[in-house]
Amino acid sequence: MNTDNKTKVIYRIIKHVSSYPKIFFGGFLSLTLASIAVLLAPKLIGIAIDLIFNEEKNISLEWSFSNPIILASIALISLAIGRGAIIFAQSYLSEKLSQIVAYDLRNQLFNHLQHMHFGYHDQIKIGDIMSRATQDIESIRFFISMAIMRGSYIILLGITAVVLMLTTSTKLAIIAFIFMPIVATQAAIVQKFLRKIWIKIQLLQGKTSIVLQENFAGQQLVKGYNQQEAQQSKFHAVAKELYDSSLQSSKIIAFNEPILSGIWLISLTCIFYFGAQLIIEGQMTVGQLVEFQLYLTLLQVPIRAIGFIINHIARVRSAGTRLFEILDAENFIANKKGAKTINDISGKIVFENVFFDYQLENTQEKLLQNISLTIKPGQKVGIIGRTGSGKSTLLHLLPRFYDVSDGAIYIDNQNIDDIKLDSLRNIFGVVLQDVFLFPGTIQDNICYGVPHATLDQIEKVARLAHISDFINSLPEKYNTWVGENGVSLSGGQRQRIAIARTLLADPPILILDDVTSSVDLKTELAIEQSLEKFLINKTSITVTHRTRVMKKLDHIIYIEDGQIRDQGQHDALYERNKQYRDLCQSFDQKTQKNEVQ
Ligand SMILES: Nc1ncnc2c1ncn2[C@@H]1O[C@H](COP(=O)(O)OP(=O)(O)OP(=O)(O)O)[C@@H](O)[C@H]1O
Ligand SMILES: [Mg+2]
Repeated sequence: MNTDNKTKVIYRIIKHVSSYPKIFFGGFLSLTLASIAVLLAPKLIGIAIDLIFNEEKNISLEWSFSNPIILASIALISLAIGRGAIIFAQSYLSEKLSQIVAYDLRNQLFNHLQHMHFGYHDQIKIGDIMSRATQDIESIRFFISMAIMRGSYIILLGITAVVLMLTTSTKLAIIAFIFMPIVATQAAIVQKFLRKIWIKIQLLQGKTSIVLQENFAGQQLVKGYNQQEAQQSKFHAVAKELYDSSLQSSKIIAFNEPILSGIWLISLTCIFYFGAQLIIEGQMTVGQLVEFQLYLTLLQVPIRAIGFIINHIARVRSAGTRLFEILDAENFIANKKGAKTINDISGKIVFENVFFDYQLENTQEKLLQNISLTIKPGQKVGIIGRTGSGKSTLLHLLPRFYDVSDGAIYIDNQNIDDIKLDSLRNIFGVVLQDVFLFPGTIQDNICYGVPHATLDQIEKVARLAHISDFINSLPEKYNTWVGENGVSLSGGQRQRIAIARTLLADPPILILDDVTSSVDLKTELAIEQSLEKFLINKTSITVTHRTRVMKKLDHIIYIEDGQIRDQGQHDALYERNKQYRDLCQSFDQKTQKNEVQ
């Protein structure tokens, strides 16, 4: 992002803030009143002191509303109470504004990522996104509450304090102002150092979450390959760097604090000395000197905060840049203008000269090349090919998980680009090779796409997927918690839950990507039987390695290196195509070997 865009970051944050005008102006009104209340206190104290030292009047502490001392005391107490209430309102509104904007941003980020295309999700690192969703949004929240709201309060307080100091005693004000640039410069230099360290800390926090996330997601691999120590030292290195940087920042803050307090004490002493002279010369009252010292104390806060606020502006620029980078990322797979809903489809699918690649920088050739094929309504098609030949990729193009690079795909003669995404995805029931189960009950996982399904319907599909006996053997049956912190399921059990999930949605076209690869032969045959019944009159595309299954399918597409090498019925292909025959034989050998084992 260039400087221009970085300036826009602040502008965009302010725009978010201004979408809550009532809280925003309420906050500003209370901060104006708060600074008036804060600055009235020294004035009142000054007046009260001068009343005590007033020789002409008979001063007493008698309780009467005509006694100026009592009046001044009541005014001070009332002011303290009023000031407390206003400061509470100001802090509360600033906090509310910052929290509400952070809440909006978090929702926007989640919603945006939900709708981003698969290709984008392939590129991003989960740990990095986590850090943006938490720390970067927190930096923005802090900026709104501290820099925008509290910053305005501090600036207002500073300007008014300067004006009041000048009106109380111009001479003393000039002396005091000599110290101010020293304090401001010291604070700014330290903030500049701190800024660099904080940026580093932010990066390191992101790195830490990436290492943590990778480590826990890949626990099986880590343990399986005895890589605990390597992972430990990888984490240790990042954690140590984070510790060093955090400690360095604490050291700078700790060193800076006594210096700034020292300078302030020297300035107070000078003011006391020169103020005393002015009192002796009769140019100033004791009350005025105290009043002046109190203004100077108040002025310290804005002067020291300048560096802090500037630092936060820089900090929020990098946090905002990282966040808006995601929010601005274009979603390449979205509904086209004028996209239609499609209902009651017959199930005809046409691939017309389809080319595809994942648009990775190092790929020169297209992964899928010139795929042309027609699947008739109700046809059962098989896709066969060696591992990595592009079978899953081809299937992912149908629900537009990825878009074709060239060519077109038609469902019932309609280009899938012209169909609304939700409508298109409702057409397909996809059982993917990699099954994902959400943390939740088995029932939640089965009825994921059909949340209002009855238990009867759920049990029926579980029986079809041959998982109901297993589920009923669990103490809590369909209410058994699976996924994170739940019962661990085997690959085959997960596959069967995924099949049940898809059957429940009852889509017109089924895509089954090697869905029985993890179950035993007996279960596989039983599932095949159920699916056969279920698939009557439905179009289906099955990726399989079983010649037994291939024989039963209407049409086989033989794909190698992303190209259709041959197609037709299994027997004819087996007869005429040597490569196909070799592949089938190698599948059979592998199956037999597995069965013997
Ligand atoms: N999301 C992705 N991003 C980039 N490249 C990918 C992605 N998914 C797959 N590939 C690559 O595309 C090629 C084809 O993969 P694909 O998953 O389609 O093969 P497949 O035929 O289904 O293999 P298998 O039988 O092992 O499932 C592979 O070289 C793979 O590395
Ligand atoms: Mg595959």
